Amino acid sequence: MKFFIDTADLAEIQEAGEMGVLDGVTTNPSLMKIAAEREGKPLDFHEHIAKICDMVPGDVSAEVTAVDFDGIMEQGRTLAAIRDNVVVKVPLILDGIKAINALAQEGIRSNCTLCFSPTQALLAAKAGAAYISPFLGRLDDISSDGMTLLQEIIEIYDNFGYTTEVLAASIRHPMHVVQSALLGAHVATMPLGVIKKLLVHPLTDIGLAKFMNDWETFKQHQSG
Ligand code: G3P
Repeated sequence: MKFFIDTADLAEIQEAGEMGVLDGVTTNPSLMKIAAEREGKPLDFHEHIAKICDMVPGDVSAEVTAVDFDGIMEQGRTLAAIRDNVVVKVPLILDGIKAINALAQEGIRSNCTLCFSPTQALLAAKAGAAYISPFLGRLDDISSDGMTLLQEIIEIYDNFGYTTEVLAASIRHPMHVVQSALLGAHVATMPLGVIKKLLVHPLTDIGLAKFMNDWETFKQHQSG
């Protein structure tokens, strides 16, 4: 399973990268806004994406802000030209599906975002998206079931052998990661806080504290 970090914050990407478990990055306009606020200065979008691409070996999703076919195509081509590992993030709307298909014909990979139904995911795969991003947490937020959506997409894609990778997005906690892995999602994108929580177990901390304590006692009993 690939791990992507869901952020545009360079320090967070650096920190996750140092763990050696990072396979890529997903960004969106909201995450760009947060990154600019944290840096306390305006950011050049394309320069910022280039910096992110140079920090990670894997795919970096950069989102278009146009919602019409021509605008999505123009922005998509510009974003794809930044670096080879840019994946153009396109919203799941009619012109977005058309653009995903046209971009694929030009050899430009896309991440189809804001997916909330299996029918949307089916269209994205047929159009030729490289990734589909079902938003798990946002469905849970409205008392729906993000995991059911993920399961349905994986089953449908398996039925027909679609090569579109399923990217579990809007992940809020470690159980989302566990369930996505059990279902066979190709990728999970998550905030740095969730990546760090994957490491934590109180029995590890308690066990380590006891080992350290016992080691000190052992050293006091050593001869010589
Ligand atoms: O990449 C976008 C997606 O992960 C959004 O997550 O937490 O804003 O619902 P969230």
